[in-house]
Amino acid sequence: MIEITDLKKEYTLNGRKKYALDGISVKIPEGCFVSVIGPSGAGKSTLLRSINGMISVDGGKVEINGKNISSLKGKEKREVQKNICMIFQDFCLVKSSTVIKNVLNACLADMNLFSAVFGIFGTERKAKAAEILERVGMAEKINQPADSLSGGEQQRTAIARAIMQGGNILLADEPVASLDPANAEDVLELMKSLQKEKNITVIMNSHNIEQAVKYSDWIIGLNSGRIIYEGKPENLTAEIKEDIYRRDNSNG
Ligand SMILES: Nc1ncnc2c1ncn2[C@@H]1O[C@H](COP(=O)(O)OP(=O)(O)OP(=O)(O)O)[C@@H](O)[C@H]1O
Ligand SMILES: [Mg+2]
Repeated sequence: MIEITDLKKEYTLNGRKKYALDGISVKIPEGCFVSVIGPSGAGKSTLLRSINGMISVDGGKVEINGKNISSLKGKEKREVQKNICMIFQDFCLVKSSTVIKNVLNACLADMNLFSAVFGIFGTERKAKAAEILERVGMAEKINQPADSLSGGEQQRTAIARAIMQGGNILLADEPVASLDPANAEDVLELMKSLQKEKNITVIMNSHNIEQAVKYSDWIIGLNSGRIIYEGKPENLTAEIKEDIYRRDNSNG
């Protein structure tokens, strides 16, 4: 369970304070597929970064299974973060490395310095990486450099890396925004099936309402750092959509 309570994040722009997150409260049950929608600048990426503790917050808290990630530090924080994987629009792979090496990189944090420096992953980890790559449909490409892959293949590799990390929370910041429609559907189907098979909680930022509605159990509509809508996709009416994407909701 992810429980977010009165979460605030402010930035100063030209000497003026502006809330990127302005009191967000929401509970996300384990195994749920949630999409966060809203206009550019609404706070979607800031929200994901707060959930995995990448940025400090200015009020409220994010609790992951009862642990307040916003206040944890050092080893304790890393323990919670290990459980949280992130994928991005631009895949964030090591382009010159092979597919399997990119997936194995997820283990670096758990390895001793010597093995990590020399890239000695061991047979067990390699077998697991190969199995995961097979699962995401990348078995034939494991030795191909990442920069020779199509966008869809790169995102499937990034998802494999996330599974290798072993977390049960997947944060996806516009994961299919740079893919063509067929590849986008493929990657979303993959995320959906992993959610179902492994009971992974998925939180996806999206600019594509149709995809968000099709794949999500729950929709969060953000505007100017505030939740405008929270509910089932089927209850997202045209009026609510208009509200979410309204341009005059400044909170400066
Ligand atoms: N490091 C930063 N410094 C200053 N302002 C920031 C910083 N990061 C985010 N912001 C501001 O916070 C607000 C929310 O940004 P965020 O990136 O979360 O929006 P978003 O909903 O993800 O937008 P997009 O759909 O364009 O990705 C924006 O006004 C942005 O300019
Ligand atoms: Mg964003």
